[in-house]
Amino acid sequence: MLVDHHRRPLRNLRLSVTDRCNLRCRYCMPEEMYAWLPRPQLLDYEEMVELARVFVGLGVNKIRLTGGEPLLRRDLHRLVAQLRALDGLKDLALTTNAVLLQEQAPALAAAGLQRLTVSLDTLDAGRFEQLTQRDHFAAVIAGLDAADAAGFTGTKLNTVVERGRNEDEIPRLLAFARERGYQARFIEYMDVGGATGWTAQKVVSWQEILSQVRAAFGEVEEVARNDAAPADRYRLADGTVFGVIASTTRPFCATCDRSRVTADGMWFHCLYAQNGTDLRTPLRQEGSEAMRALVEQGWAARQDQGAVERAALDERGPLQAPGRDPGDNPHLEMRTRGG
Ligand code: GTP
Ligand code: 5AD
Ligand code: SF4
Repeated sequence: MLVDHHRRPLRNLRLSVTDRCNLRCRYCMPEEMYAWLPRPQLLDYEEMVELARVFVGLGVNKIRLTGGEPLLRRDLHRLVAQLRALDGLKDLALTTNAVLLQEQAPALAAAGLQRLTVSLDTLDAGRFEQLTQRDHFAAVIAGLDAADAAGFTGTKLNTVVERGRNEDEIPRLLAFARERGYQARFIEYMDVGGATGWTAQKVVSWQEILSQVRAAFGEVEEVARNDAAPADRYRLADGTVFGVIASTTRPFCATCDRSRVTADGMWFHCLYAQNGTDLRTPLRQEGSEAMRALVEQGWAARQDQGAVERAALDERGPLQAPGRDPGDNPHLEMRTRGG
């Protein structure tokens, strides 16, 4: 089995299909304009499938499609269908903001997409517009309705909690998820990539998230885990399960089995990594065997524990700002790496 320096296996690939997005969430992509990845450099679906085949051959059994906003990529269901045909892949999921889900949910379901995670930070249409700088709240709800109608179950709702913006909505979002059969997940705000507005003060810790839940719903019990997933899961007295992703105050790098490939084929191990490996050039010029060798060597040499290292710095403000030019380097942005 392929393992890195910390004996972490390579199991989970986050494949970003575009660096573009139709929202401008303030914690991720606050500017209007960025330097975009040049189009000729974007991998086409055949190249993505070839790349995914190599990762699956090396031990990956979970793939998550991310972006930017993945539904902006034309006919994403075609990629889904091709990935589903890969031998050895057990789990194929998608993280989306759901703005375009209403029209695409049936085709995605038919293509074999197994799981959906929808990013949703508020249930208030006005606040949604403040947070995302777009008036698309109704489209998101229509997207969730369409996903339910298309037969998706076990959908997760990701909420990045930011003090002063939406920390008052934790109980409401949890009640909404419970009512609709989704798993709510509350995420600590991370100082990564485009989060140029990050400060330590804006981070709502997992303890605070849990005490808000307790105040609204009573005692919560921790659910035992046996996986390397980012979320810690908890159960309310009525059986409702929700997750908390404590990336900032309680990093989980020791068990990290994830890495990510950007839409132009750059491979980053860690969400915080400053440098990646170009897989596009070997894939295009030499074929998948050359790429496979790079991935094998790259993972074996992996040492990073980005969130642990970031926490040790104990800076109160963002490392990326101030004065960061969004035209500088798309590969450093969260929107390019897909979270
Ligand atoms: P599951 O497959 O359902 O377990 O999904 P997931 O939780 O891995 O994926 P999702 O896209 O829902 O990720 C949720 C959030 O977890 C992201 O927005 C990030 O904030 C955080 N996250 C995901 N992967 C990593 C990681 O490798 N490192 C850190 N520090 N945070 C991560
Ligand atoms: N901190 C935590 N999560 C973030 N995401 C984007 N930026 C940040 C950040 N600074 C999340 C989105 C989405 C996932 C892909 O990444 O909310 O759910
Ligand atoms: Fe993995 Fe880096 Fe995230 Fe830590 S910060 S869990 S090493 S991707």
